[in-house]
Amino acid sequence: MNFTGSHILSIKQFERADIERVFEVADSMAPYALRRKVTRVLEGAILGSMFFEPSTRTRISFGCAFNLLGGEVRETTGFENSALAKGESLHDTARVLSGFSDVICMRHPKSGSVAEFAQASRVPVLNGGDGANEHPSQALLDLYTIRKELASKGRGIDGLRIAMIGDLRYGRTVHSLCKLLLLFNNIQVILVSPPELAMPESIVEQMRAAGHSVSITEDLPQSISHVDIAYSTRIQEERFDSQEEADIYRGRFRLNQAIYTQYCEPNTVIMHPLPRDSRANANELDNDLNQNPNLAIFRQADNGVLIRMALFSLVLDVVDQVHKSARDVNWYNSLRTP
Ligand code: CP
Repeated sequence: MNFTGSHILSIKQFERADIERVFEVADSMAPYALRRKVTRVLEGAILGSMFFEPSTRTRISFGCAFNLLGGEVRETTGFENSALAKGESLHDTARVLSGFSDVICMRHPKSGSVAEFAQASRVPVLNGGDGANEHPSQALLDLYTIRKELASKGRGIDGLRIAMIGDLRYGRTVHSLCKLLLLFNNIQVILVSPPELAMPESIVEQMRAAGHSVSITEDLPQSISHVDIAYSTRIQEERFDSQEEADIYRGRFRLNQAIYTQYCEPNTVIMHPLPRDSRANANELDNDLNQNPNLAIFRQADNGVLIRMALFSLVLDVVDQVHKSARDVNWYNSLRTP
C-alpha cells in the first residue's frame, strides 16, 4: 500500500510487505520511545484525538507517539463534550476538525463510523476502534509483540499456534488480529468462547480459506496446552443490552498461575489487549500471573507507542526525516524501570 496520506481504517488494507514495513519502522522508533533520543520531525503538526468511548492505552499512546515525534495533541473525549451531542453529523465534525489537524485518531462505538468520518476528512484518519468491528493499530501491536516474543525463542510468525479466549463476538481486537494472520502461513488458531460469543463465521471462513487450522471449543485447559500464545480478552460489557447479560459470561475462562503451570507448555506467552477485568467476578487473567516472565501484557502495551509512531511517520511521510532531526536527550530518567 502507499501509506502517504492514507487513512488506516482496517487491517484489510495491508499486504504482508506493508506489515513488515510497519514493523521495521517501529523497530527504528525505540530510541525515541525510550527517551534516549529526541526528534522534532513533526514540530508544528497537530493530532486531533477524538475518543467517544473510554480508553486508556489507545488514546494516550497515540498522543505519546505524536508528542515523541515532536507534534502537539488536541483532544476531545466522550459525546457529552463534543457537538455531536448537539446533533452535529460525523460529516460536519470531520470537515471542521480536519481543518484544525494534520492527522486524526478516532474511537467511536458504532461499526463503520470511523470510515464514514474519514470520507469527509481532509487529513488522514486512524481508526482507534469502531464498535465491535476493528482495531487495526491494536492488531499491529499485537502481532509486533508476538513477533518479538517468539523471536526470543527462535521462532517466526509463520507456523504460529494461538488460542484466542473470551468474547470473540464483540472483541474487535481479535477480529483485526485474525484478519492480520490471513497474511501469514500455516497458522493454528483455537477459538475459546461460549457459543453465544463465538468469532463471526465470516472471519472463521476466511481463516480456513487461507489454509489455517481453526478449532472451536469451550475447553480452556485443552485449548492452552499446545500453543505459543494464549490471548485472553475481556467480556465487552458495553456491547451487551444489560450488565446482567454480560454477567452470564463474565469469569467463564479464567487463567491463573496454577492453571498455567498445570496445562501450558513452558514459555507459552500470555497476551491480552487490556484492560483486563480484575473484578472478582471476572478476573480473566489473575494477578498471580504478574511475576510470570511470559506474561507479555505490559510489553504489549509498551509496543503500542512504537507501532503508532510508525503509523504516523508512514502516513505523514516523514520516516526518512525522523533521524535527520534527532539529537541525544539532555536528561535521562534513571528512575524508570523496564
Ligand atoms: N487495548 C485497548 O484498546 O485499550 P484501551 O481501551 O484502554 O484503549
